[in-house]
Amino acid sequence: MALKIMILGANGFIGSALTGAILERRSGWEVYGIDLSDNKLGDLPKNDRFHFVEGDITINREWVEYHVKKCDVVVPLVAIANPAQYVTHPLRVFELDFEANVEVVRHCVKYGKRLLFPSTSEIYGMSPDSVLDEETSPLVYGPINKQRWIYAACKQLLDRVIYAYGVRDNLDYTLFRPFNFIGPNLDNPEEPKEGSSRVFTQFLSNVLYRRPIKLVDGGSQKRSFTYIDDAIECLLTIIENQDGRASRRIFNIGNPGNCISIRDLAQRTIRIAQEFPVLRENARAIEIVDVSAGEYYGKYYQDIQVRIPNIEAARRDLGWAPSTDMDTAIRRTIDFYVKQEGFGGRVAALTAI
Ligand code: UGA
Repeated sequence: MALKIMILGANGFIGSALTGAILERRSGWEVYGIDLSDNKLGDLPKNDRFHFVEGDITINREWVEYHVKKCDVVVPLVAIANPAQYVTHPLRVFELDFEANVEVVRHCVKYGKRLLFPSTSEIYGMSPDSVLDEETSPLVYGPINKQRWIYAACKQLLDRVIYAYGVRDNLDYTLFRPFNFIGPNLDNPEEPKEGSSRVFTQFLSNVLYRRPIKLVDGGSQKRSFTYIDDAIECLLTIIENQDGRASRRIFNIGNPGNCISIRDLAQRTIRIAQEFPVLRENARAIEIVDVSAGEYYGKYYQDIQVRIPNIEAARRDLGWAPSTDMDTAIRRTIDFYVKQEGFGGRVAALTAI
């Protein structure tokens, strides 16, 4: 099956991994990608099945519309997805995550294209359900003065808009809900500003800089961490969409077997980093300290205590299940960074900062 796939945000964490997997494992498929830069793409732009342009989807709007028209499947992955930014730049989240994306959704409706849209695990908010289900779990957010929820609210409204286009106009879509995907290229561990990465990369970064790991409100909150390769496997099956099995459906993509506390994540990261000689000394020296959410994120933050996906729908209808356990996910990611050219020298320099 030959498919033309458009990936907006092809240089992002999910976008770059998905592009790489398509080019490597689906010989008939072509990717049309756009992003602000290409630093996560390595040699991929040299592949003649990858048509990449550097650009901003909010500026290069004609390019976007033209390529929606030209492609078979549209995967809009451009969004701010970092809680630190929901509380500092909530309107940017609205403008990019909602406004820019709703335009792409409308192009898909106009040209009758299949849309693969990233919803989020955050959509469940503080849902009382112990296991979160796509069809039945309530979506529960805090008050308006807790600006953290603007991201979940944007994504929720997009899910509802897409669903409504499915009902009214027969839009062919799949909504997928990532549960804390982790792996190489999730944020940048060498980024000097603390708090600019999601937790997994932040903790790796603390090891590189030999800075104390900070547990927000004690670190007893839990997440179900999902290794990126498992997630990509699921996305490839959704894009393939054999017999329309993923059409007009919502799928949680997560690993309930990797539901651990943030404190546990910190301890595992420190332990596994010590397996790598270049990080051993730093990892041994790392302290774990507690900070309040107010100190770390400010007054607009509110947290989610436990987040476990029900993945029965993906298991039953896509034949998918995650297979990478927590320690393997951490080890593979550290291994990826350790193998980067000049890593040892950079760590030595960062540690000295
Ligand atoms: C994430 C982000 O909203 C998105 O990436 C995404 O939509 C979704 O959830 C997902 O990936 O499933 P969250 O899990 O809260 O939200 O994001 P992190 O920044 O990774 O934080 C996880 C937990 O670690 C939070 O409880 C946070 O308070 C804590 N944390 C973070 C620390 O204890 N210390 C830190 O240094 C950083």
